[in-house]
Amino acid sequence: MLTIATIAEMKDAARAEKSAGRTIGFVPTMGYLHEGHLSLVRASKAATDSTVVSIFVNPAQFGPQEDYARYPRDFERDSAFLIGEGADILFFPEAAEMYPPDFRTFVEVERLQDKLCGRTRPGHFRGVCTVVLKLFEIIRPEKAYFGQKDAQQALILKKMAADFNLDVELDVRPIVREPDGLAMSSRNQYLSPGDRRAAVVLNRSLEAAAAAIRGGERRPDVVIGLIRGLLGREPAARIEYVEIVEARLLEAAPDAGPGRLIALAVYFGNTRLIDNLIIPAEG
Ligand code: PAJ
Repeated sequence: MLTIATIAEMKDAARAEKSAGRTIGFVPTMGYLHEGHLSLVRASKAATDSTVVSIFVNPAQFGPQEDYARYPRDFERDSAFLIGEGADILFFPEAAEMYPPDFRTFVEVERLQDKLCGRTRPGHFRGVCTVVLKLFEIIRPEKAYFGQKDAQQALILKKMAADFNLDVELDVRPIVREPDGLAMSSRNQYLSPGDRRAAVVLNRSLEAAAAAIRGGERRPDVVIGLIRGLLGREPAARIEYVEIVEARLLEAAPDAGPGRLIALAVYFGNTRLIDNLIIPAEG
């Protein structure tokens, strides 16, 4: 695996892959890799000739009170995982080169960026879109891989790619979970042992909602009430939102029918966790 730290070298390496007739698959990450990230690397390996993984803790997507400084970082461990998966290139740029002091241009996907997580994280998706567009331009991948774990992020990036006519196909892959059902996240390691045990309630409450919907329940307020009730039984959980939205515009859904997105954000102590479920088709 080639590790590259500068934009110029990354552009050269990407051009070399293209002139050798090799397709590029790209997996953007903020590092502290887990099976969720590695599932994306495997998907890229299976579908493209050369897999580029970026590790960049993107300051532009963190609010002033958020965890940029303490976001977990372990380059050696991440690098070993990626070698194990057979990734071809690890791109590890520096914030000072990605955002020089005179950096002025940002990308916003209107309306979608203000829903769900955007309500409490103003500027977050603007930071995500800006860095991903930069990375796309530097790497010029044919395909890019994202996780359904961050459902709103994936939707917004797809909209950006469509609106800007980008020559990249976005592939959104299923949520990878711990054996007890907690969605994998680099932030899970912030949790105290007690909060870690309590956090299974996120997936459990989504599963209970899915069961109620399978049983014929279609009223969004009833399903949301069920989820809130289960979360509320866990004293450590502090709900930020529980919503059922239609999966294109993220507007409140009139029913809890197939294809709707149930999304939630819940705090355990200072740690904010998200999870979601797309209501499956009947039968
Ligand atoms: P990060 O949180 O490191 O996640 C990188 C990618 O891994 C994202 O596409 C995310 O949805 C996916 N992912 C995370 N946990 C997952 C899980 N349990 N199952 C499946 N996929 C999972 O998301 C970001 O970084 C950043 O916002 C980024 C896109 C890199 C821009 O800075």
